[in-house]
Amino acid sequence: MRVGLFGAGRIGVFHARTLAEHPDVDTLLIADTDAKRARTLAEQVGAEATDADTLTSSGLDAVVIAATTSAHVDLITACLDANLPTFCEKPIALGIEETLAVVERVEASGTTLQIGFQRRFDAGYWEAKRCIDTGAIGTIYSLRLASHDPDPPHDEYIPTSGGIYRDLHIHDFDVLLWLTGGTADEVYARGSVRGFEAFERHGDVDTSAALVTMADGVLAVLTGGRHDPLGYDVRTEVFGSKDSISVGLDAQTPLRSVEPDVSFPDGSGYPGFIARFADAYRAEIAVFLDVARGRTENPCPPREALEALRLATAADTSLRERRPVRLEEVGVATG
Ligand SMILES: NC(=O)c1ccc[n+]([C@@H]2O[C@H](COP(=O)([O-])OP(=O)(O)OC[C@H]3O[C@@H](n4cnc5c(N)ncnc54)[C@H](O)[C@@H]3O)[C@@H](O)[C@H]2O)c1
Repeated sequence: MRVGLFGAGRIGVFHARTLAEHPDVDTLLIADTDAKRARTLAEQVGAEATDADTLTSSGLDAVVIAATTSAHVDLITACLDANLPTFCEKPIALGIEETLAVVERVEASGTTLQIGFQRRFDAGYWEAKRCIDTGAIGTIYSLRLASHDPDPPHDEYIPTSGGIYRDLHIHDFDVLLWLTGGTADEVYARGSVRGFEAFERHGDVDTSAALVTMADGVLAVLTGGRHDPLGYDVRTEVFGSKDSISVGLDAQTPLRSVEPDVSFPDGSGYPGFIARFADAYRAEIAVFLDVARGRTENPCPPREALEALRLATAADTSLRERRPVRLEEVGVATG
């Protein structure tokens, strides 16, 4: 296959390695508005650097977009115009209307757009989904979802991120909807600045907690933060009538038990998202190459990304207005 990659930043570097090592990828072309960055990465992985304006007209079979969020809509549009199967990192865009326009365009075109919700490809999340779908959990009562970054992003990233709910918790919202197969009714989100003044300057928070009420009554509690001295902590717990399970509770969980005679965990905490989800990132790209060749269904369609964004947007409004927000207030109901 001839595959193009937009973006040679943090996640682009990882996707480039995955694509370069994939046995079915014969040629990898990399473009970044920072041409030097594209050249350096291309040399490292044995790919070709090319111009961002001409990438989509290079006779490609598929494209991976790992560029800055604000570039996603234009790049997706260019790929759709060229009728190219496309993988795009989350989010499609930060706004509901803009995202909906992309979703409708993709659905009308029949071209594939797979969104980068890699947790769906993580072994633990996959097992949790199996436990729920087979009925092994029984009636779901509640979920607890945690997303704690080890260190805050650069100051310049904060005003472009869309806030902690759209940037960090979007993954929690996606797995909540994906795991339960349900729809959200209401969210009440709070947040505060506990350590990093830069978030306050940009109207954002570094510490978050939210309560989501699903339409069937399932309750989900989220916690998050931009600093965790022990590492990158992403966990999900599901409590049901037949079983209670945890995703992300392993030897590298950045959480120290202080119970006497308990030495858990016995490894050092995950240093960051790449270490925690390396296998999942590789798996989502491998599946995308199959999707691009029509061998399997798109596992992360853009309409599901829109639903996660609606929930994140409701949380953002709730945080700002200090009140519970019903999902029906946020854009179109598409469920
Ligand atoms: N799924 C995940 O867990 C995950 C993790 C990290 C980042 N992301 C997403 O991936 C995207 C990139 O994040 P990052 O952390 O790698 O950012 P980054 O800032 O490290 O890299 C972004 C790169 O895109 C390049 N770029 C900007 N506009 C471009 C364009 N029009 N064409 C080509 N290149 C362009 C920039 O020069 C930069 O090299 C973001 O949308 C982010 O939300 C997802």
